[in-house]
Amino acid sequence: MSLSSVLFLLLAGAQSSLSQNAPYMASTPATASQTSSGPSPLVTQVQVSVDDLWDLYVGPVSTFSINTTVQPTPIPSSSLIPPPPLYYPSFPTGQQVPLQVKNESWKFPKNFWYGVAGAAYQIEGAAKAEGRAPSIWDVLSHRVPNYVVTNETGDVANNNYYQYKEDIARIAALGLNTYSFSLSWSRILPFGSGPINEQALAHYDDVIDTCIEYGVIPQATLYHWDLPLVLQNTYGGWLSPDIVEDFTNYARIVFERYHTKVHHWFTINEPIVFCGFYPLPKNYFKQTIIPDVRQKFYCGHHALLAHAAAYHVGKSLNSSLSISLKHNGGYKIQRTNSSEDALAVDRAWDFQEGWFSDPVFLGGDYPRYLKEYVETFLDPFTDEQKAQINGTADIYAHDAYTSDFIFAPDSGISACTKNESHPLFPSCYNSTKTYANGYWLVGPAADPGSPWLNKATDWVPAFLHYMQKRWNPQGGIAITEFGIAEPYEALRKDLPSIVTDPLRSAYYRDYLEAILIAISEGVNVVGTLAWSIYDNFEWSQGYSVKFGIQYVNLTTQERFFKASAFEYVNAFNVYLEK
Ligand SMILES: *[C@@H]1O[C@H](CO)[C@@H](O)[C@H](O)[C@H]1NC(C)=O
Ligand SMILES: *[C@@H]1O[C@H](CO)[C@@H](O)[C@H](O)[C@H]1NC(C)=O
Ligand SMILES: *[C@@H]1O[C@H](CO)[C@@H](O)[C@H](O)[C@H]1NC(C)=O
Ligand SMILES: *[C@@H]1O[C@H](CO)[C@@H](O)[C@H](O)[C@H]1NC(C)=O
Ligand SMILES: *[C@@H]1O[C@H](CO)[C@@H](O)[C@H](O)[C@H]1NC(C)=O
Ligand SMILES: *[C@@H]1O[C@H](CO)[C@@H](O)[C@H](O)[C@H]1NC(C)=O
Ligand SMILES: *[C@@H]1O[C@H](CO)[C@@H](O)[C@H](O)[C@H]1NC(C)=O
Ligand SMILES: *[C@@H]1O[C@H](CO)[C@@H](O)[C@H](O)[C@H]1NC(C)=O
Ligand SMILES: *[C@@H]1O[C@H](CO)[C@@H](O)[C@H](O)[C@H]1NC(C)=O
Repeated sequence: MSLSSVLFLLLAGAQSSLSQNAPYMASTPATASQTSSGPSPLVTQVQVSVDDLWDLYVGPVSTFSINTTVQPTPIPSSSLIPPPPLYYPSFPTGQQVPLQVKNESWKFPKNFWYGVAGAAYQIEGAAKAEGRAPSIWDVLSHRVPNYVVTNETGDVANNNYYQYKEDIARIAALGLNTYSFSLSWSRILPFGSGPINEQALAHYDDVIDTCIEYGVIPQATLYHWDLPLVLQNTYGGWLSPDIVEDFTNYARIVFERYHTKVHHWFTINEPIVFCGFYPLPKNYFKQTIIPDVRQKFYCGHHALLAHAAAYHVGKSLNSSLSISLKHNGGYKIQRTNSSEDALAVDRAWDFQEGWFSDPVFLGGDYPRYLKEYVETFLDPFTDEQKAQINGTADIYAHDAYTSDFIFAPDSGISACTKNESHPLFPSCYNSTKTYANGYWLVGPAADPGSPWLNKATDWVPAFLHYMQKRWNPQGGIAITEFGIAEPYEALRKDLPSIVTDPLRSAYYRDYLEAILIAISEGVNVVGTLAWSIYDNFEWSQGYSVKFGIQYVNLTTQERFFKASAFEYVNAFNVYLEK
């Protein structure tokens, strides 16, 4: 079966249409004049198939020899023997002293969920299989040179689309109880809206049923950054209010299909990050007249409305479902005791977590410092919209990887907030990984490919207290992603040195101890998801940085547990309330 849809294709300028870069831009005629800088754009209405989209915008994709769904390969019991105790670096000590014996005052509550996460474009592969259409990431990885530093793509990735049974069996064999995955919008609705691809829905039926068969809780994310290309090229994707209706329609299809089996849902993943993709590279996608610096805030505005609408659709089917969005950001440590740095920290919370958490948890509107900026160009949320957004997360789901020192810009804050050309405008706070002496790091650095990430687990209890105090989530807090890219792991060529991952192991151990401390102090933490199920396509870093608790040999697609996998599950073996 081959789906097709009537689209308006804009042949954007005769010159550029002959270049090697995505020559055609789908567009509606009404906005065509904004989309092309070239002379006399040619607009035509044609019947477009999914294959046409691939041919026009992406080109050939790679495939792998395992290209039908396979039964799990048996997991040898020898692969389930944990490593001998690992060496733990003693720096930095901070407040947390690694514990040698069980601490009887710590426990994870009985219904705690603990598992691993992955995301469709990063792990599935099978890019063109069974009716999937391109997302913006297929274009970014195939057509935009150096957008991915290695020029690699998610064409094959971990081949999870065909090997998910093995992946779920391995999660269960390790002793984890949860698998969190995302759904590919452009598999289910190749054109973003319109015809539904039943093969894709059937695929996810089986992913979910396989989880249930293995006693693993399935958790699903609707949107993990892989926007259907057609929606970007038709109306500018998240920059347009049109996205709200299309996302809601997609959410309805998915919730209706799976809500009896999947009870934990996330609508959108890390909107701060995907909104930060805007402005998208010129010449590959439909462009917009919105100034670059403002684009991400339009995206965020529509993302909040889309999330809220999807939340209500899900809750109308079963009010007991847990539906949330995934927030992200690092813990914000005030670098000095100056009042300017205190203000910088407040601004940092508002421009990161607060951007989405205040509307969702605190009444439907933006936090103070962000609002002061966006109200100069965005229409304020109406009372009706605020009421629609308020209360649309059942847990506080946070991808909380690291911590940063926050401080005021050299110019001072007010010189920045008044100056659109200031390099830190509009957030007007600065951040660093080093203490005020500019010498010692906040914690050991991850791989240089992830400069935003250090092991800073000492601050996790304070971070959790902050979340609970400010947003007071009724259903508790879940750490829905945490992990670290072991330094230089990609350079290692022999299996034993790859799977022996001491920094990642220490990270999980110290992080989970920090959560146990916070729980013992009264913070309601309900679950954790390690990022990631295995090494995968790390967006603009390609496969060059590794976040997995499993290694995947991309030549053979064989999976191997790393030491950190055992460290992670061990915390629950020791501390989960029986
Ligand atoms: C599937 O893989 C086999 C090799 O294992 C290859 O012969 C076949 O052409 C592939 N089919 C598709 C549709 O890629
Ligand atoms: C990526 O592709 C661009 C353009 O073809 C090329 O200049 C660059 O060297 C490539 N990068 C790598 C790491 O291969
Ligand atoms: C509604 O969701 C709850 C879990 O959140 C589940 O226990 C219950 O079975 C669901 N009801 C239906 C009809 O699926
Ligand atoms: C900030 O003040 C507190 C209490 O006065 C002090 O303990 C702390 O060392 C100061 N921090 C810095 C970074 O100066
Ligand atoms: C937001 O919802 C909560 C209940 O979920 C309610 O107590 C609060 O008054 C609402 N806030 C606003 C501003 O509507
Ligand atoms: C931000 O901090 C760095 C030091 O970490 C400094 O070099 C830079 O000048 C600061 N930027 C601004 C705009 O204040
Ligand atoms: C605004 O910031 C730019 C870039 O830092 C700077 O060159 C300019 O002098 C600033 N303008 C004012 C009025 O401070
Ligand atoms: C991955 O598999 C290939 C093919 O079997 C093999 O040559 C290579 O050594 C493997 N890599 C590792 C790290 O085991
Ligand atoms: C055990 O945990 C409690 C609560 O977090 C903490 O106060 C105490 O210091 C811990 N004991 C040891 C030996 O680490």
